[in-house]
Amino acid sequence: MLSTELWVDKKDLRSTRIVRRELSALAAGEVRVAVDMFGLTANNVSYAVTGDTIGYWDYYPAADNWGKVPVWGCATVVESNCSEIPVGERLWGCLPMASHVDLQPGRIRDDQFTDIAAHRQALPALYSNFRRTQAEPAFLSDMQVERCLLFPLFITSYVLYDYLLDNDFFGAQQVVIGSVSSKTGFGLAQLLHDDPQVSQRVVGVTSPANAAFIESLGCCDEVLLYGNEGDIEAAPTAYVDMSGDVRLTRALHNHLGENMVESCVVGATHWEEGGNPGELPGAKPQFFFAPAQIAKREKDWGPGMVMARAGEASVNIARHALEEMTVEWTRDVDSLQSLWLNLLDNKISPRNGQMATLLD
Ligand SMILES: NC(=O)c1ccc[n+]([C@@H]2O[C@H](COP(=O)([O-])OP(=O)(O)OC[C@H]3O[C@@H](n4cnc5c(N)ncnc54)[C@H](OP(=O)(O)O)[C@@H]3O)[C@@H](O)[C@H]2O)c1
Repeated sequence: MLSTELWVDKKDLRSTRIVRRELSALAAGEVRVAVDMFGLTANNVSYAVTGDTIGYWDYYPAADNWGKVPVWGCATVVESNCSEIPVGERLWGCLPMASHVDLQPGRIRDDQFTDIAAHRQALPALYSNFRRTQAEPAFLSDMQVERCLLFPLFITSYVLYDYLLDNDFFGAQQVVIGSVSSKTGFGLAQLLHDDPQVSQRVVGVTSPANAAFIESLGCCDEVLLYGNEGDIEAAPTAYVDMSGDVRLTRALHNHLGENMVESCVVGATHWEEGGNPGELPGAKPQFFFAPAQIAKREKDWGPGMVMARAGEASVNIARHALEEMTVEWTRDVDSLQSLWLNLLDNKISPRNGQMATLLD
């Protein structure tokens, strides 16, 4: 069987390679899946940017300097050497930008399995778990696009929202969200805005091209453009940053001073504007580690509860967001190559959700 794949140069993310390769015979215990569809967002660019430090390149090894960027997608088993996971079984999880891939199921439960391949043993397990989607409620099976494109981001939005609530907003009276037009960003804004118990103002910071989209979602009390950070009210503030833009971090901390009571580094949509912000007034910017808050809630709320609540919240945010968004499809590898470049170069409107498939 032929697999069509898009590889990315780990040292030069704008350099890509189309690979068509004959898959070898399926190994004992493994399953071969067709990747039906996957979503592409700035999150996948971040996987590539941090591919060496966090290990994202190691899930689906390529060759030499080339890597396969992980994407969230749905797949169907097309060949099986694993009696518990038959042909036809449908899956959701972290996959490569490819038409087909082989997985090695282990720790098999009714609702999920883990790819236990030797090269994955030292990597975070989250990206090796595959949901068996037949076991899920029917309404979720109907939300395949949302699961690929939106849920992985909105789940983080929910965990961020819960982290702020759990810490009484660190005493903040407002939450400032950097790169608010990102899915992770507006998902958080929506959750804060929709919760009648949250009295904090929600201030979104974005670029001129994306402000109207955020206004149309109605999830912020105020939308500010980059460069106008000085207009933010001098009040205790929790900053949640999806941009990774060091100039923005400096501008906000210098403007708010000791009023910056929490500074949470979540993402790097402005992936070429990163760096060390140096000594800044106010709370020290700290990387947000979602698994730590999830582990805390597993203890507080009981096993599985935090992800169940995050899933429910994701469904609601997705329904609202899709009223303002259009889903666009990329269906061949040449077009996928262009889409990847457009993602890197900020040429995708937040109104346009990007889905892809490399199946013929
Ligand atoms: N730490 C975690 O656990 C975790 C979990 C989930 C996501 N994240 C991170 O959160 C960030 C957002 O991810 P997402 O998938 O939600 O993003 P997304 O929806 O694809 O974000 C799109 C927005 O990002 C900005 N942007 C995109 N590409 C850009 C570029 N090349 N240069 C400058 N700005 C660019 C623009 O917003 P503006 O004009 O508003 O800036 C754009 O509207 C990612 O860095 C992701 O890795 C982290």
